[in-house]
Amino acid sequence: MRQVSAAGAVFNVVDRGAGPTVVLIHGFPLDHTMWQAQLDALSMNNRLIAPDLRGFGRSTITEGTVGMEQMADDLAALLDTMGIKQPVCLCGLSMGGYVSLAFWRKYRERVRSLILCDTRSAADTPEAAAARKVLADKATAEGMEQLAEAMLPKLIHPRTPADRPQVAAAVRRMILETNPRGAAAALRGMALRPDCADLLQTINVRTLVFVGEQDTISPPDEMHKIAAAIPGAKFVVIPDAGHMSPMENPERVKAELLTFLANELLMR
Ligand code: MLT
Repeated sequence: MRQVSAAGAVFNVVDRGAGPTVVLIHGFPLDHTMWQAQLDALSMNNRLIAPDLRGFGRSTITEGTVGMEQMADDLAALLDTMGIKQPVCLCGLSMGGYVSLAFWRKYRERVRSLILCDTRSAADTPEAAAARKVLADKATAEGMEQLAEAMLPKLIHPRTPADRPQVAAAVRRMILETNPRGAAAALRGMALRPDCADLLQTINVRTLVFVGEQDTISPPDEMHKIAAAIPGAKFVVIPDAGHMSPMENPERVKAELLTFLANELLMR
């Protein structure tokens, strides 16, 4: 792990391997360890960067509202500080996908390929945005315990607690270790994110879209529409997985990522 100062904050970052850069962006309210099962394999032929976003893991907490554009600005500043000038492969899950789309909106010349996992392109409905603000205040006042209870069943496949208790425990631990003020700021930020439907058709780099078969937060039907709107995107459904597909079916997700990246190398 490295501590990298950028954009007025300090980020906790995995920086491993050499080759074309791949950036893995975690979901909410999680940290970079959600990619643990993929880190070794992906860093064999790539420089792998997996940061804890602002407000998460061991990175700086910023109070108030942290929007997806701020997180995209953070990533651009991180890449600058780390001397990464070549376009990167950006891979984001859920909130990480919102950040990836915000990054594409503002810094597309820095993106060579895109991987969108278990994410959405639509903005929140007014009701969903209002519920996030309530949740943000609740997390700040009462801590992460209730948020963990409410979110865990949505994040993982119904069979995961019995079949892969260590995965359920790891997701729960990540949520409980998240700073409530960091989570609250991101909740307020997610509530403000713009709809990205029009952005999808502008994506003109190689794109992989994948989703856990049992994902109820960003269901396969919705993700299929995202893939269909991106010219030439490949769409994959990951079996035996809910929203946390890289943790719930790590081998299949690893294989999809490696194939996507290997084909990229062949096409150079
Ligand atoms: C995530 O996994 O990042 C969240 O489910 C995203 C969200 O709350 O919209």
